[in-house]
Amino acid sequence: MIRILFVCLGNICRSPTAEGIFRHKLHQNGYRDGYLENIFVDSAGTGDWHVGQKPDKRSRETALKHGVDLDDLRARQITRQDFSDFDYLIAMDRENIRNMKALSPSDQYHKITLLMDYAEDCPGISEVPDPYCGGMDGFDRVYEIIERGCDGFLNNILTHHDLRKG
Ligand code: 4NP
Repeated sequence: MIRILFVCLGNICRSPTAEGIFRHKLHQNGYRDGYLENIFVDSAGTGDWHVGQKPDKRSRETALKHGVDLDDLRARQITRQDFSDFDYLIAMDRENIRNMKALSPSDQYHKITLLMDYAEDCPGISEVPDPYCGGMDGFDRVYEIIERGCDGFLNNILTHHDLRKG
């Protein structure tokens, strides 16, 4: 079982979008995810302001334009236990990494990486910008960036793990 946790600040914009896109790509490629499968995908925020809420309406609308439904997701805050439970803890930006390391046991630091470190041919984009305070065009751009990161991350996972097709 490979367990993947996407992490941002509020868990209502970037990390649920990454969770939805990554899951969609898994399904498109013939893989299943979930507790009973050999890959499990989740997301969380380092902050607690939006716990229990659906993803931001702008993120849901943007994802839906691409056929990705985020409606069933609910925000939660990352816990110390997540660092032992998950194999990959994928941050959207460097502030997320700082916040995660403040909570994580240091022997789990190696699991924490930036999503855009996996992107192929995305020079100059090392972080997913926070779209929360901006306009709708920011959400379109963030979606494209996350999609590039998820493509690269999926290639990386498929290279390093022998996933069973569903
Ligand atoms: P996210 O965006 O980290 O991509 O979910 C944010 C959502 C809410 C807040 C900040 C960022 N906030 O400060 O409430």
